Amino acid sequence: MKMSNAILVTGGAGFIGSNFVFEWMKTGGRIVNLDLLTYAGNPANLAALQTDPRHELVRGDICDADLIAALLRKHQPQAIVHFAAESHVDRSIVAPDAFVRTNVQGTFTLLEQAKGYWSGLDEEDRSRFRFLHVSTDEVYGSLKPTDPAFSETTAYAPNSPYAASKAGSDHLVRAYFHTFGLPTLTTNCSNNYGPFQFPEKLIPLMILNSLEGKPLPVYGDGQNVRDWLFVGDHCSAIRTVLERGRLGETYNIGGNSERANLDVVNIICAVLDELRPDAAIGPRDKLIKFVPDRPGHDRRYAIDASKIKRELGWQPTIKFEDGLRQTIEWYLENSNWVENVRTGAYRDWLRQNYEERIPQ
Ligand code: NAD
Ligand code: TYD
Repeated sequence: MKMSNAILVTGGAGFIGSNFVFEWMKTGGRIVNLDLLTYAGNPANLAALQTDPRHELVRGDICDADLIAALLRKHQPQAIVHFAAESHVDRSIVAPDAFVRTNVQGTFTLLEQAKGYWSGLDEEDRSRFRFLHVSTDEVYGSLKPTDPAFSETTAYAPNSPYAASKAGSDHLVRAYFHTFGLPTLTTNCSNNYGPFQFPEKLIPLMILNSLEGKPLPVYGDGQNVRDWLFVGDHCSAIRTVLERGRLGETYNIGGNSERANLDVVNIICAVLDELRPDAAIGPRDKLIKFVPDRPGHDRRYAIDASKIKRELGWQPTIKFEDGLRQTIEWYLENSNWVENVRTGAYRDWLRQNYEERIPQ
């Protein structure tokens, strides 16, 4: 059987995965979307595709070798784009087991099954097939204020269980290229923000808390720096790498938008004061509360994205302040989605992570 034009996406009901699915569908492609629908996976993200026969959501685990083998046999995809992961650093501090299982064991299982499928293809299809692994800049560790940004040759120095598990998965992908010739590509991207981000991460958490007049828990001194990228720009970078990336290579993706956390929170407060003034709440920056720091908190991330620009012509298109305003407007316009994700399990997480930081 010849390879089809479908792609297998893992984790496509999560934040970045669902944005990517929408972006890919615009090109007319077909997607099989394998997602375990953990707390972070939300079929509501894909509601607009419910009746589209080109998209199929399969609930399942990337650690399930038989399921992956069956999906590959059935759909004969031309590529696997691998987003599925446990992705939240704070959760990896509280309960690291799931991170090792999904990020390391799951990626290994996917690689093994991809290798089996790919080796059975004819020569032409073997040369066209791609395995794209979506990873993070956190594998490189932490920068000092004057250090140069992370490049693809920066040594790995992961500091959190999340970063260590992603580093493990990156190394497995590298090994499958070097040892078996599996046509892999790896992307290491900086912090994303945009529609459909689960409100455990900094930006959506701060938008929703400040909207409701709740405390805004800033860890430590608020001077930790992240390099923010709008999710749509990340998705276009992934497509670019998939189409034109050199096999076995890694590509850093970043927004050229380093901001201290406190500055990000202050912008969110100012935009919400403008869009949703509320006399009972008053100026929202008064809600900022410095709380005990995250253990092992990386001080600064910054990406040198010159390789992907030079080799593949990709660069970010959305300025941070514009993307942030667009994101705030999205959360304001999608209160049903917000209510839907704030389940009992979400409230349990807030209690677990913030109760000691902000005594109730
Ligand atoms: P997310 O937590 O929003 O989504 C993860 C998705 O994976 C969810 O839909 C979840 O149900 C699914 N999943 C989890 N375990 C699974 C399993 N065992 N089998 C199948 N599906 C499973 O994460 P995200 O922010 O969209 O991140 C996606 C990918 O991008 C991750 O690999 C992450 O490491 C990477 N990344 C994220 C960022 C960021 O800022 N969010 C930046 C760089 C890289
Ligand atoms: P986060 O969105 O969890 O992403 P990451 O840890 O992967 O970079 O956090 C972004 C930054 O915001 C990070 O420096 C930690 C900080 N932060 C807070 O100050 N308060 C919070 O409640 C959260 C969730 C994060």
